[in-house]
Amino acid sequence: MNYNKKTVTDIDVAGKKVLLRCDFNVPMAKDGSGVITDDKRIRAALPTIQYLLEQGAAVIACSHMGKPKGEWKPELSMKPVAARLSELLGKDVILAADIVGEDAQAKAAALKSGELLLLENLRYDKGETKNNPEFAKALADLAGADGVYVSDAFGTVHRAHASTAGVAAYLPAVSGFLIQKELEIIGGALAAPKRPLVAILGGSKVSSKIGVINNLLEIADKVIIGGGMAYTFAVAQGGEVGDSLLEKDWIDYAKEMMAKAGDKLMLPTDTVAANAFAPDADAQVVATTAIPAGWQGLDIGPETTKAYCDAVSGAGTVIWNGPMGVFEFDKFAVGTKAVAEALSNTDAITIIGGGDSAAAVQQLGYADKMTHISTGGGASLEFMEGKELPGVAALLDK
Ligand code: 3PG
Repeated sequence: MNYNKKTVTDIDVAGKKVLLRCDFNVPMAKDGSGVITDDKRIRAALPTIQYLLEQGAAVIACSHMGKPKGEWKPELSMKPVAARLSELLGKDVILAADIVGEDAQAKAAALKSGELLLLENLRYDKGETKNNPEFAKALADLAGADGVYVSDAFGTVHRAHASTAGVAAYLPAVSGFLIQKELEIIGGALAAPKRPLVAILGGSKVSSKIGVINNLLEIADKVIIGGGMAYTFAVAQGGEVGDSLLEKDWIDYAKEMMAKAGDKLMLPTDTVAANAFAPDADAQVVATTAIPAGWQGLDIGPETTKAYCDAVSGAGTVIWNGPMGVFEFDKFAVGTKAVAEALSNTDAITIIGGGDSAAAVQQLGYADKMTHISTGGGASLEFMEGKELPGVAALLDK
């Protein structure tokens, strides 16, 4: 895939209307109060928004929120995003009452240079996820005949939706600064990494990481496995894992990977096993291949932690996707924390995949020590799997 895409600085936006796709799919408080619990994605979009406004564009921003599947669910309105965006920018954000309906059309037509309009949740219309051409054209029409489409929604580039891919058929399409940065840093690490490239892959399931394990085994110098998926590998080694997470259907795959990867693959040798999946469970350190019945592995052990941290300290680039254990429980966050600390102390380029890994690094207090924390969960995973990203493919090549 070509990552060398035109950006906002490659085109003239002054006096034009810009349809700007953002990923404002932010987590909200579960009580329906409309409180945004993490505004990272809104902040990440600010440089592009500010640049476009300063250049004299009239910006029509749009995003999805959650998965309303064509239903107008009030709890998934963009209203709280408009309020937070307005606070962060220190200027008015006009919120349309619909997406491509009468209100959005009127407000977009009246929008002046330097003003910002936010459309309602794109997924209130079924046409969005279906990549319906009429819906895509209606979005493009809001920007008018000399309009421009800018995508800065990295978190959504793995979706071939109307606002991420379809719309590019009707307007010149370029990336914003956020997508540009994600492509440069992650794309750069995959295409021409500073070596040695160490990939740390964790998380609960082998089945959800197959693509990324396969791709990184081809590219990386070391692939380190942690988290719940390590126990499927332990069984593939002929071990006993007690009540640990195990995906029986993936044992053969794990065997194949071990045979193929040889020394490149590092598996945990010891494990912190617990007698229950609970924050205050009793814990003991055991061999990863000899976890007693009634016990389950919830973190990597001290010997493994040291080996993994040593591997990180000599790296040129580290890509981390997935925690080493149940970091949500303090008692079982030790391995994940130690790896995060090792990353924060190395001179290597450190790239953290979005989703759980980003949450772990943030929760443990190491976020500002990393070279790059991706704003995409599924998107960064698919990127690291080497898949084509429709929302990137749709943009103009340089
Ligand atoms: C995300 O949260 O990963 C993105 O906003 C994409 O959301 P989706 O998985 O609902 O497409």
